[in-house]
Amino acid sequence: MGQFEKYSHDVLIVGGGGAGLRAAIAVAEADPNLNVAVISKVYPMRSHTVAAEGGAAAVIKQDDSMDLHAYDTISGGDWMCDQDAVEAFVREATEEMIQLEHWGCPWSREDNGSIAVRPFGGMKIKRTWFASDKTGFHMLHTLYQTSLKYDPIQRYDEWYVTQLIVEEGKCQGVIAIELATGDIQAIAAKSVIITTGGCGKVFPFTTNANIKTGDGMALAYRAGVPLKDMEFIQYHPTGLPFSGILITEAARAEGGHLVNKDGYRYLQDYDLGTPQPEPVLRSMELGPRDRLSQAFIKEAEKGKALEGEYGHYVNLDIRHLGEKKINSKLPFVRELCLKYENIDPVKEMIPVRPVVHYMMGGIHTDINGATTLPGLYAAGETACVSINGANRLGSNSLTELLVFGARAGKSAAENAKKQAAPKIDHLGYAVAERKRLNDQYLDTKKGDEKLSVIRKEMHKTMEEGAGIYRTEDSLKKSQKVITELRERFKKVSIEDHSLAFNTELIAAIELSNMLEIADTIIHSALNRKESRGSHQRTDYKERDDKKFLAHSLAYSTGEGSPKIDYLPVTITKWPPGERVYGK
Ligand code: FUM
Repeated sequence: MGQFEKYSHDVLIVGGGGAGLRAAIAVAEADPNLNVAVISKVYPMRSHTVAAEGGAAAVIKQDDSMDLHAYDTISGGDWMCDQDAVEAFVREATEEMIQLEHWGCPWSREDNGSIAVRPFGGMKIKRTWFASDKTGFHMLHTLYQTSLKYDPIQRYDEWYVTQLIVEEGKCQGVIAIELATGDIQAIAAKSVIITTGGCGKVFPFTTNANIKTGDGMALAYRAGVPLKDMEFIQYHPTGLPFSGILITEAARAEGGHLVNKDGYRYLQDYDLGTPQPEPVLRSMELGPRDRLSQAFIKEAEKGKALEGEYGHYVNLDIRHLGEKKINSKLPFVRELCLKYENIDPVKEMIPVRPVVHYMMGGIHTDINGATTLPGLYAAGETACVSINGANRLGSNSLTELLVFGARAGKSAAENAKKQAAPKIDHLGYAVAERKRLNDQYLDTKKGDEKLSVIRKEMHKTMEEGAGIYRTEDSLKKSQKVITELRERFKKVSIEDHSLAFNTELIAAIELSNMLEIADTIIHSALNRKESRGSHQRTDYKERDDKKFLAHSLAYSTGEGSPKIDYLPVTITKWPPGERVYGK
């Protein structure tokens, strides 16, 4: 074996969460002779999929149908979803979920033993499968354990990818740092799949783990692949006020109420329906996330929210569900409240506020996960295929990572079978990357800027300028700040010059990624002069299908601002209509 042969694969997957592991299994199943590797900055079981709580949507009951699931998804996405992708998604969703059961996922059951489903926000039929309120944990375990049975799947755990290798117009591998040693290697691959999740950490209050810094999006973007629909940022209506920890929508699905400072269920005033006997479908607390988050802001403007150390909040009341139901259906919610807020939701109300949860946008891919760069694929939250449009429905993303993880894996495998092994200069790339990182971050003291200060200012300006409501003015202010921060970032100084587990260096690269992503969010939002789903411009209040029934595409121009282009939305059966809830 040559010196670098072990750093050469047919398919290399960047990201070890749900989409990455599902893709790896798909490659191994497509052809056992393919050599596939998963590279991840954390151990796969620490990927953010593990934090998903409420469930995963797929048609399973008699009163449901593929068309109903598709329509809820498309109308929930305010007609920004590509309908061919949504049709493929709903068609393949159930099979994927059953397969996961066969691989060992312990889906919760109804009393008669059939798959249990719960209602979820914006879904007009109960179709959300769940494993108590630890669905992501069980799905990730299942995928991880299943991946272990395939010998060809190798892993680079705790390696951090810093660049894609592009030669002859194709993606031919990656450059990565082994975190434990600081060793840098160029890893060749015929196909690369990015599955690194979203970039919620661009914002201050988020359900996202610290690892979600948009790394994969930035890698693809710098390699010339456009980022699609970056202006659509999902706020989840119920995060804990300071930590942003998710209090799952399942708490409302099981009958929890959102109340203002007077104890009033204020959502009945926001065209989301009126109180109804449980379980409530179509309305109120189970409205779509964009509308609930917007209602929170309006309620605060009326002076009806509570005032806390971290700004406004409202209360989520699940006390009436009783201890038995809370312990069986929402044990994790109780645990999180006890551990992080020191309150027991059996007896006390839970303070909540909207927090950034999910990016509808991401790396532009086709329906098979292929990007515009030959040899490069993407799936899961990092990608925009796009089934989520302007507002994702809760519980669609876990199923999305299965369906499109599998699709990306299959097409990457097909591509790999047709390609010759890349002949890259492993040593040359590694040496050049070491020099780049030394020059940029380590060798010289370029200035006195601190990562923590720049990160904090980025958070502040993103929340203020590109939050739930935006205007030309607020976005322009944030654009100016982000441009300045990108300039100041060049003068960042890093204190830690060691090789082993240099987390400061990784934090610096992550911040450079986030600043670039923040720029794409702001420019895409500035250019979209309409309000649609999660993108609400108070200076352009209406949806404008004539001009903006189109995906935005943000292209890197190097150091400058991104160039924004548009791509028509694919409509198959469902022409744009009104989004109706609570009627
Ligand atoms: O509330 C939740 O459990 C989140 C689910 C999702 O984002 O799909």
